[in-house]
Amino acid sequence: MASQFVLLLGLLAITCPVAFAFDNSPLQDFCVADNSSSAVLVNGLVCKDPKLVQANDFLFRGLHLPGNTSNAVGSKVNLVNVGQFPGLNTFGISMARVDYAPLGINPPHIHPRATEIWTVIEGSLQVGFVTSNPENRFITKLLQKGDVFVFPMGLIHFQRNVGHGNAVAISALSSQNPGIITIANAVFGSKPTVSSDLLSKAFQVDKNIIVRMQSQF
Ligand SMILES: *[C@@H]1O[C@H](CO)[C@@H](O)[C@H](O)[C@H]1NC(C)=O
Ligand SMILES: *[C@@H]1O[C@H](CO)[C@@H](O)[C@H](O)[C@H]1NC(C)=O
Repeated sequence: MASQFVLLLGLLAITCPVAFAFDNSPLQDFCVADNSSSAVLVNGLVCKDPKLVQANDFLFRGLHLPGNTSNAVGSKVNLVNVGQFPGLNTFGISMARVDYAPLGINPPHIHPRATEIWTVIEGSLQVGFVTSNPENRFITKLLQKGDVFVFPMGLIHFQRNVGHGNAVAISALSSQNPGIITIANAVFGSKPTVSSDLLSKAFQVDKNIIVRMQSQF
């Protein structure tokens, strides 16, 4: 009997961290983030007193506005996460609008905490993601207005505007704080920098090429 109990505890210990890697389900109707109180570090933000919560806490305005795509990659992400929208706290969701100039890209990146469901509102875009090692299979698709695509949690993915005009997409993510790791910025633009010797070996190219890459970020 005791050994079965120990076994059960062991199983729980192994399986629980997996479950807790995701946003928890809320235990109350809502927990609007109290942005003024950042003293307590929990998996989410401290709740505002429910009596002080207003209708506006459940509202975010402005996703109709196009982002400024005049930058090196030709795209702009307007992420509406719990930082911009306190009402999202504990709900495990967030949203984004992405604008793409002609030939603009949303460069290869990862959301460490979210799966992303994404739809084209305007234009046509190529999307893609790469699966885990050792297959590293590249899954890609050409999408038109109204098409919906899903980017699995934690996988490297990108979008590219392949049309002649601007393109717009709306995405929903399965975390109130999905996180974004842009691969090029993280690898070549970290502060302080990862040693160019190490990256030279990792990417199997001359160190000068790495130094050049690092100077871009
Ligand atoms: C867009 O960004 C560019 C580069 O930062 C800037 O020069 C330009 O004024 C911005 N355009 C608008 C409409 O804000
Ligand atoms: C919450 O606080 C952070 C940091 O002070 C700030 O950047 C953010 O804009 C605030 N969000 C809201 C909705 O007020």
